[in-house]
Amino acid sequence: MPTFKLDGKDIPFEPGDSIIKAAARSGVEIPHYCWHAGLSAPANCRMCLVELKPAANQRAMMLDIVEWDPVLKDYKNVQKPKLQPACQYPATEGQEVLADSSKHVLDARASVQEFLLLNHPVDCPICDQAGECKLQDYWLEYQARDHTGKRMRDEPIHKPKAVVFGPTIVYDAERCVMCTRCIRFMEEVAKDPVLDMRERGNLNEIFVAPGRQLEGHYTFMTEHVCPVGALTTKDFRFKARVWFLKSVSSVCQGCATGCNAHLDYDPRSNKAYRYRPRDNEAVNKYWMCDEGMLSYRAAHEGRVIEARVGRTRLGVDAAIKEAKKRLGDVPKEAIAVVLSAQHSLEDNWAMRELAKQLGSSTLYAAGAGAGYADDILIDADKNPNTAGVKELAPNARTYLQLLEDMRSGRISHVIALGGVTPRNDPEDATALGMLGTLVVIASHEGALTDAAHVVLPATSWAEHTGTYANRQSLRQVADRALIPQGASRPAWELTKLLATALGLEVPFTRLKDIRAGLLGSSTAAPSTRDVAAITTGAT
Ligand code: SF4
Ligand code: SF4
Ligand code: FES
Repeated sequence: MPTFKLDGKDIPFEPGDSIIKAAARSGVEIPHYCWHAGLSAPANCRMCLVELKPAANQRAMMLDIVEWDPVLKDYKNVQKPKLQPACQYPATEGQEVLADSSKHVLDARASVQEFLLLNHPVDCPICDQAGECKLQDYWLEYQARDHTGKRMRDEPIHKPKAVVFGPTIVYDAERCVMCTRCIRFMEEVAKDPVLDMRERGNLNEIFVAPGRQLEGHYTFMTEHVCPVGALTTKDFRFKARVWFLKSVSSVCQGCATGCNAHLDYDPRSNKAYRYRPRDNEAVNKYWMCDEGMLSYRAAHEGRVIEARVGRTRLGVDAAIKEAKKRLGDVPKEAIAVVLSAQHSLEDNWAMRELAKQLGSSTLYAAGAGAGYADDILIDADKNPNTAGVKELAPNARTYLQLLEDMRSGRISHVIALGGVTPRNDPEDATALGMLGTLVVIASHEGALTDAAHVVLPATSWAEHTGTYANRQSLRQVADRALIPQGASRPAWELTKLLATALGLEVPFTRLKDIRAGLLGSSTAAPSTRDVAAITTGAT
């Protein structure tokens, strides 16, 4: 691979890379506002300026400038090299680039900072971006370095604040650094060029096309790409301070795409607060959809957190006793087992082992129904693990076939993983009501938990580490963030308890055993925990 030198360090690059992109891939950040690895590079913020050393047979391009001389107490004429934007300048073999090691570059960064902050309000204490704001970070690194404060003494320009751009996003023009990332995201990725810039100079502001609002399936990403607190989501603003939040690597459960995400939560209250996209070129690049961004709420909404028999809440042990009472005398092979594309591979593997021990002739698979799809990210399959279930039980019958088999009396006793079903029809409830026994182990409420005789509370994806196979059959690991809520326990653990109560011996006691079984059964790619996701660290 060809390389160039950045502050003396060799940086490999791919043909077509800009200096900043190649550096980011090597884990070296060149300060920037307008550049984003997933968007075009307008080079309008000038924060990424670098000095290019001329080759032996070239002269450096120099600029005449005036510089304040504190001894002379006057300006004097000097020269400085013409700096170049690293976000636009292509990486070339053998090029020597100076960034942190160049005084001219450090001066330029401090000047850009001073310029951006001339009219910026000092409302960091009430800004949602505080703690993860590029303006704050770079001020500390480059402007505070020489204790260069703002020299302008005039009243700052005031611009519109708290402008509602649409159902999800609010805009603060005074905080905006005019990087145009939001405009470019809507045009280049969401394919809906609804944002633009108006006016000139310090009167610049972002606006929504007349007669439109910022809406659709990708509005949250405008907030995510905004490097400062100019765009905030109605969902997150004023809800939490980011320094109190912790984060785990997660996988969105909203559809079969399996977008990689950071799940941010407050460990003090055991509460999930938001999703942020986690870069993965192979799956979601740098993005997530709005529905996915809001799906962190499922960590708390619609959860099953207590065991129950009918409508009566009980302890897990008592509920398992009831399941044993109901299923104990039923011929084992007559008990049907339902897997769930809403649950992890681990949970489904454990349930499939239970089915094997029962000698069930047929497996069924359920999950959420189909929905909206596009050719950007969103898949019509609203389950995170359909490919995983298919891999474990390629011939599993569908939920509709399960209903048919119930109506025809072919099955009368069922153990199901997951409460969610593709549809929630009153007629289906009648069929489910005909069952002799329905035991459901689930993290979320649905038609199956509604009809169940016994419900056992399973932890959700946010409360355990689990593996999910997305539409590419790529196994991806979502890490645990929250402490299990209520009496919930991992579904595989409940499956083991139920199996033992029914006098069955399933071949696992610990998660380790299941993971080993899963590795053995895999025809798909190993998880992204094993194969590092390709990231460029673009934020
Ligand atoms: S709102 Fe944010 S993303 Fe959009 S131009 Fe302003 S600073 Fe950039
Ligand atoms: S596309 Fe699917 S997986 Fe990705 S964020 Fe949206 S709902 Fe989640
Ligand atoms: S990041 Fe290069 S000019 Fe903005």
